[in-house]
Amino acid sequence: MTEKPGSFVKSYGCQMNVYDSGRIGDLLGEAGFAARSELDQADIIVLNTCHIREKASEKIYSELGLIRQMKEERAREGRNLVVGVAGCLAQAEGEEILRRAGAVDFVIGPQSYHRLPQVLDDVRKGARPFVGEFDTQEKFDELARRAPRRRGDATAFVTVQEGCDKFCSFCVVPYTRGPETSRPVAEIIAEVEQLAAQGVREITLIGQNVNAYVFADGATRWTLARLFERLSEMKDIVRLRYTTSHPLDMGDDLIEAHRDLPKLAPYLHLPVQSGSDRILRAMNRRHDAKLYRDLIARIRTARPDIALSSDFIVGFPGETDEDFEATMALVRDIGFASAFSFKYSMRPGTPGAERADQVAEDVKKARLAALQGLLEEQRVAFNQACIGRTFDVLFEKPGRHAGQIIGKSPYLQSVNVDAPATLIGQMRRVVIERPGSNSLFGRIHQAEKAA
Ligand code: 5AD
Ligand code: SF4
Repeated sequence: MTEKPGSFVKSYGCQMNVYDSGRIGDLLGEAGFAARSELDQADIIVLNTCHIREKASEKIYSELGLIRQMKEERAREGRNLVVGVAGCLAQAEGEEILRRAGAVDFVIGPQSYHRLPQVLDDVRKGARPFVGEFDTQEKFDELARRAPRRRGDATAFVTVQEGCDKFCSFCVVPYTRGPETSRPVAEIIAEVEQLAAQGVREITLIGQNVNAYVFADGATRWTLARLFERLSEMKDIVRLRYTTSHPLDMGDDLIEAHRDLPKLAPYLHLPVQSGSDRILRAMNRRHDAKLYRDLIARIRTARPDIALSSDFIVGFPGETDEDFEATMALVRDIGFASAFSFKYSMRPGTPGAERADQVAEDVKKARLAALQGLLEEQRVAFNQACIGRTFDVLFEKPGRHAGQIIGKSPYLQSVNVDAPATLIGQMRRVVIERPGSNSLFGRIHQAEKAA
């Protein structure tokens, strides 16, 4: 029997891309390719790219250089290697990629990759297609016809919403992912049921503006909160999460869901970007720092043990020392368990890139270092405060040492425990004993052992 040709999908960027890469792998599977774990074992390579910051895009062009060499070596051996570029860079620079990167056989945008079978056909006939329509609804429908395949994972992402209508002045997403589109509720429920039947126990609902989810099913208006209420009823699903959210879409019902639904993890990733009202206005965030602070206060009242995470940008055009200090003050006042922070990166086609008052690189660097120092202090303090607490840990995989397994706390911390591998895929009460550098160590709660 001849071995099937191999595929390799490499994912860059956000969770949305991780999800899409899985589905691209499924489509390649249907087209007769078997997933391989190494790039050099593949007969087809798809880079699922990111365009969010300049560095992300540069990384991909350099990877394409390496792949070109690989393809040339293969050609000398008389073998073919098909190379595709998918994702947000593909959407933004599709024509340019085809011009610049001779090794690339096809380019397919994030809202049209369900057309991959047709594209592969075209490539076989010698074409070099670029498909970049915003067919989000069609993509959802197409994906719903196929069951996602998870290979023994305890946790999975499920896309519920894509695209963005907010047009923050730094961000490419509205241009690469198109308008906000919510997925039909029946498709989401069906996908979660399939995943649960495959052993998945935790679901993270994802979307570029996930809390803007809204779907009318007859007279019923489905919001993210209502969706969580429905998914909470599934007995095999033990934990629910969501990411990423916009403060303006943080509805009262979602805050109440944090109070009322025990399965909804007490963890919220809510990007604020800046603590300065002047900069928030320039960023077109459509809210001020007070709105964010008030929101956090209400969420903490609803769910006192909630931990917070956020995204920050330093050095947006026009940011002064005083503006930056307002960001530091907001971080000090609120306190984050974890966070992502970035230097502003000019993105072609966005309003921020047009501004003349760009901040000097060394200033951005110094501000980022100061902010990250503070955020790291808060992260370490949060982990330290977890010592002695008992958490529900969902075990996901074997640990680095024999006899150890690793799971996630409600706060997305990795927790190492000495316990049998048979617990992988299950949730247990774990007493947290000590912090590691990037994780925690704990032991199974006595009551669970007896049970
Ligand atoms: N420069 C720096 N960071 C950015 N982000 C989005 N666009 C840019 C940009 N041009 C950050 C934001 C967003 C996260 C996903 O990436 O903080 O929330
Ligand atoms: Fe990157 Fe944004 Fe595209 Fe995700 S949606 S891959 S973060 S540009």
